[in-house]
Amino acid sequence: MDPMPQFPPGFLWGVSTSAHQIEGAADRRAPSVWDVFTAVPGRVKDGSTAAVACDHFHRYSEDVALLTGLGVNAYRFSVSWARAASPGGLDFYDRLVDELCAAGVRPVPTLFHWELPADLDWLERDTASRFADHVTAVAARLNDRVPQWITLNEPAEHTLLGHALGVHAPGRRLLFDALPVAHHQLLAHGLAVRALRAAGAADIGIANSHGPTWPASGERADVEAAAFYDVLLNRLFAEPLILGEYPEGIGDLMPGDVRADLEVVAEPIDWYGINYYAPTRVGAPQGTETDFGGVRMPAELPFTVREIEDIPVTDFGWPVVPEALTELLTGLAERYGDRLPPVVITENGCSGEGIDDQDRIAYLDGHLRALHRAMAAGVEVRGYFVWSLLDNFEWAEGYARRFGLVHVDHDTQERTPKASYAWLREVLRAQS
Ligand code: NOJ
Repeated sequence: MDPMPQFPPGFLWGVSTSAHQIEGAADRRAPSVWDVFTAVPGRVKDGSTAAVACDHFHRYSEDVALLTGLGVNAYRFSVSWARAASPGGLDFYDRLVDELCAAGVRPVPTLFHWELPADLDWLERDTASRFADHVTAVAARLNDRVPQWITLNEPAEHTLLGHALGVHAPGRRLLFDALPVAHHQLLAHGLAVRALRAAGAADIGIANSHGPTWPASGERADVEAAAFYDVLLNRLFAEPLILGEYPEGIGDLMPGDVRADLEVVAEPIDWYGINYYAPTRVGAPQGTETDFGGVRMPAELPFTVREIEDIPVTDFGWPVVPEALTELLTGLAERYGDRLPPVVITENGCSGEGIDDQDRIAYLDGHLRALHRAMAAGVEVRGYFVWSLLDNFEWAEGYARRFGLVHVDHDTQERTPKASYAWLREVLRAQS
């Protein structure tokens, strides 16, 4: 295999995790919508909960040692809103940030990664202001040591899976009536940017999910269905931030004085985070319910997700198409021109069993090369974070999907670095 090309000096090399997926110690924080959701039988496929997860709350020193052993210079984690809202809850992040700084690893916290305190609701506009209060409290405590911030993680998935399709917490099936959840999260993002700036914070971004949408055919109905899917997944959460407006037709569906809100939403950010996993092939509706990676897609949706044939898939059924990352990034740069802030890949990775995880190595290798090609084509990219450091609680899939560079035995909590961990360490060593 050709050696990995060199990335620019100062490039951020990191791994990502999130609080609910790894921390455990649920008895040391207020309940979140995910605790309520997982308590209902049948919601999580293996019946598990994140009450203990990877017990990172107690084992964070061991996990920071895994980061230094890997040689990354940055670590993306999230501050649980439910924990931060509990007495003494921020003490944990204080200790974690200290440990990261002592190890020379840049702490990059996400301020919301889906674990909403159980008494809050994104259908309520006030939740956006409550988020700004949370951000202010976290920044007051950590900003002296945190050089870079992420407001929200994947508001698109939180809206779609959590509120439109009901497969994630809080488990609502509102379909298009879930759109206020999108607007309120965008507003929360804008208010958070302002709160962070007021606290003197710098280097602020968001982690949005993106993936190329491929029409199932050149037929008009397929092309239109794919374009609509592209609006929901790629444009709805990008354009208010980048252009200060909703894609055509969407603004009218949103609650409140959208124009005034959009000024808040479009508060300038310093970089734009992208979580990328796979492209999606989309066609016209077929008049029946369909299955999308285990997610029941109701017949009334104006599109269906189709299989991408003749392409390898991960054990999650997600297609592996590294070149789609190049396509995605050059496409965004083309669409938004110099209004697109510098990009950071805030998540990329794949699920799969086993410690000798050659498939994961092939996935990451292919995607890093694809990323480099996008950069060579002129897209400004500042960093790349692998999802994830540890096998963890994969939401509605429970512990059945393993995304880690490090295997976790969920009975004993023993951590075992996989082949991909050793591979990435060598890739990073060879970077100047
Ligand atoms: C996106 C989410 O941010 C993360 O929480 C999740 O585990 C990964 N994708 C994999 O599904």
